[in-house]
Amino acid sequence: MAWLVEELNRHIYNYHVLDAPTIPDAEYDRLFKELQDLESAHPQAVKNDSPTSRVGAAPIPEFKQVTHSVPMLSLNNGFLDEDVDNFDRRVRDGLDVHSVDYSAELKFDGLAITLRYENGIFVQAATRGDGYTGEDVTANIRTVRVIPLRLHGDAVPAVLEVRGEVLMFKEDFARLNQRQRDAGQKEFANPRNAAAGSLRQLDARITAQRKLRFFAYGIGLLEGADLPDTHSGVLAWFDRLGLPVSKERAVVNGAAGLLGYYRNIGERRAGLPYEIDGVVYKVDRVADQAALGFVSRAPRFALAHKFPAEEALTVVSAIDVQVGRTGAITPVARLVPVSVGGVTVTNATLHNEDEVLRKDVRVGDTVIVRRAGDVIPEVLAVVLERRPEPAPMRYELPKTCPVCGSHVVREEGEAVARCSGGLSCAAQRKEAIRHFAGRRMMDIEGLGDRYIDSLVECNLIERVADLYTLKLDDLLTMKRMADEREGTTPETVKQGKVATKWADNLLEAIAASKNPPLERLLFALGIRHVGESTAKTLADWLGRFELIRQAPEALLRVLPDIGGTVAEAIAEFFAEEKNQQAINALLAAGVAPQGEHAPKAQLREKLDEVNLLAALGIPKLTEPRARQLIAAGQSLESLAHLNVFGVFGLPATVSGALEEWMAVPSNREKIAALAKLRAELLAQLPEAAATPEGHLSGKTFVLTGTLPTMSRDAAGALIEAAGGRVAGSVSKKTSYVVAGLDAGSKLAKAEELGVTILDEAGLMALLGQ
Ligand code: IVH
Repeated sequence: MAWLVEELNRHIYNYHVLDAPTIPDAEYDRLFKELQDLESAHPQAVKNDSPTSRVGAAPIPEFKQVTHSVPMLSLNNGFLDEDVDNFDRRVRDGLDVHSVDYSAELKFDGLAITLRYENGIFVQAATRGDGYTGEDVTANIRTVRVIPLRLHGDAVPAVLEVRGEVLMFKEDFARLNQRQRDAGQKEFANPRNAAAGSLRQLDARITAQRKLRFFAYGIGLLEGADLPDTHSGVLAWFDRLGLPVSKERAVVNGAAGLLGYYRNIGERRAGLPYEIDGVVYKVDRVADQAALGFVSRAPRFALAHKFPAEEALTVVSAIDVQVGRTGAITPVARLVPVSVGGVTVTNATLHNEDEVLRKDVRVGDTVIVRRAGDVIPEVLAVVLERRPEPAPMRYELPKTCPVCGSHVVREEGEAVARCSGGLSCAAQRKEAIRHFAGRRMMDIEGLGDRYIDSLVECNLIERVADLYTLKLDDLLTMKRMADEREGTTPETVKQGKVATKWADNLLEAIAASKNPPLERLLFALGIRHVGESTAKTLADWLGRFELIRQAPEALLRVLPDIGGTVAEAIAEFFAEEKNQQAINALLAAGVAPQGEHAPKAQLREKLDEVNLLAALGIPKLTEPRARQLIAAGQSLESLAHLNVFGVFGLPATVSGALEEWMAVPSNREKIAALAKLRAELLAQLPEAAATPEGHLSGKTFVLTGTLPTMSRDAAGALIEAAGGRVAGSVSKKTSYVVAGLDAGSKLAKAEELGVTILDEAGLMALLGQ
C-alpha cells in the first residue's frame, strides 16, 4: 500500500505539475483501483497522503473556523511608475543601501490559501478569511491534484505553512462554463469567481470535478528547518518540495529592473494560461524583509504593482438597441462612464435578447463590465445585491425598430432579432443600396461603396427610389461635402472648376437601370431568403410584380422550391407597409420591370384546392386531411363560411383544430381571399398547359460553385432548354447537383441526402452535348 501511494503520487505530480505524464492512463487507473481495494480491506492502514482521498469527502454542514498561526496580511498597491520609484526609494532608505535586489513574481488573480504540512504530510488548508481566521477547506484542497499530499525529499521540515493562490486556468474555466450552460446552470463571471465557488463547496466531491490549480508564493510558519536566505531561494526550495511555483519569476535590481519586469509581463499577460491582475515585488533578502517589517496590515518590503483594471463596476443608465447592416438588432447597455483598464467606457454590448435575459440586466442595475484588448466592452454580470428597490422592470426587446419603426422579428431557432424594415431602415440603407445597385441586381455601373456612403451620409438618399430622382447638383454637393470631410478637395475645385463628367455618367447609369427583368428587380429588393433562384421562380411562375407583391403566403408555398421559411419571409416583407411604400416610390420614379407576363400555365395544377388548403398552415390539417375535406364536397370558398367541421369524418382533434383556427376572424378572411385570388388566377391562365418537352423534363437541378467553362446562368439555360428545372436549394426532390470549384453547403447537403452529383462534363454528357 505504501508503495502504491508513493507511486501514484509521483505520477500525479508528473502529470499535473510537470505536465509530463509518466504512465498510461489505463495503468494509472489499474494501480489506483488496486490501492482502493487494499484500503477497503485494511481500513486501519490507510495512509494520510493516499491519492484515494482526492475524490472528495462527503458533504459537511458548514466549514470549521481556523485561526491562522501567523496572520495572512495583504499587500500595498501601486499603479504608476512613480509608485514603483517611491517604493524602491523607501526600501533603500529603510535599509540604508544604494541598490536592492527584488524577487519579482506574478500577482495571481485567485484566492489566497494556506497549507499546513507536518513532517511533510499535508494536514490542513484554510482560506484567508479576514486575515486572522479563515475556513477549513482541507477536504476540498485534497482534491486539487497539483497540491502534494506529501512533500518531496527527505529533509522535510517539522512544520511548514505554505501560502499561495488557488486559481482556475482560463481553459478550464471556459470548459466549466460550457458544462454549466449545457446543464442549464448558472455560469461564472470569471475564473476567480469560478475558483472561489469551487473551493467553497461544502460537498468536496463537486470541488473534485472542477480543475483547480495552485501556485505557492510565501511562507507562513516554519519549524525544524532553516529558512533560505532569500525569497527567491524560498521559491526554489518550494519547487524542490514538489509545490507548484510559477516559472514567470525573476530576481531584478532596483526600480528600473522592476519596471522592466512589469512591462515584459504586461506584454505577455494575455498569453498566460491564467489570469493575473499585476505583479508583486518583494525585497529578496529575508533578513532585509525582517528589518523593514510591516506598517499596519501590509509589509514594507513588498509592493503589488497592479495592471489597470479590465473589469469595473458601473451603473446601467439605459438599454438601447443598435441596428446592424443586415437589420440585426443588438441590445447595448448605456453606462455611467467608468474607466476600465485606462479607457473610459460608456457603452457595452449585451449581444442579443437571450443574453440580456440570461444575465437579467435591467436599467439601474450595477454591473461588472469588462474590456479585453480591442474587443467591444461587454456586460459580464449584474451585482444583484445592488439592484435598486423597487426592482426595475425586466428588459424587453423593442417590438419596433428604433431607427425606422418597422416590426422587429426573430425567427425560430435564431438568436438574433432583426428589423423587418429592409429598404426603408436608415441603418440598413447603405447595405441595401449596395445590394440593390449590384451587378446581378439593378446593375448600376459606377455606384461604388464610396458614393453610396456619401449619398446616405449627406441624406441625399432615404430609400433606393431616391436614386432615380438625383440631380446633377445633388451629386456635386455630395462630392464637395465628402471631399471637405476627408480633406481631399482637389486644387482645381478650389480654383472654381468643377468636374461634372463623372456625375453625368453616374446619372446615366442610374437611368439605364430602370427596366430590369422582373427577377432582377425582385432580387434587388433584398428580401431575406430570396436569392437569384427564388426570384426567378417567383418571376417565372407568377409573372407580374403586382401579383407577387400581394401574393398570400399560401400561394407562395405551393410554388416549386419555395418552402415555409422562404414563403413566410416573402410574405412578411410585403406585409410591411414601409416596404410597399418604398416599392410604390420606385415605380413612381419610373422603375418598371420588363417582360412581365401572365402566370405560368402550370400554375393551374398548383392552384389545386387541396394544395392550397394544406399550404395555409392550419394546425393538424395535413394534406390527406385537406383532401378528405375537398372530397367531401367542400371548397375554399365554402369553408370560409362554415361553422361546424365535425361532420366530414375528420378525427376530433383535426376538426377541433380547424374550428379553433376558423374562430379567428383574420383567418377566415385569409381563406376567403385565397379562394377569390384562386378564381381570378384561374381565369387568367392560358388553358392547356404546354409543358416544354425535353428529355430532362421532370428533373430538378441545383447549380453550385464555379464551373470551369461556363457561368451558372448559361448552364441553367441549357438545362431549361432541355426541359429541366433549376432550383436554388437542395432537397430530397433534387435530381442532380452540378458542382464546380468552391462548392460549399449545397454540395455537402447533396452528399448527405445522397443526391447524384455531376461536374460540368457530366452535365454536358447528360445534355447530350
Ligand atoms: S504575497 C504579506 N504574492 O494578493 C503578503 N500575494 O493583497 C502576502 N497574491 O490576498 C501576500 N499573488 O491572494 C503575494 N505572488 C503573490 C501573490 C499574492 C497574488 C494575492 C494574495 C493576497 C493578495 C495581497
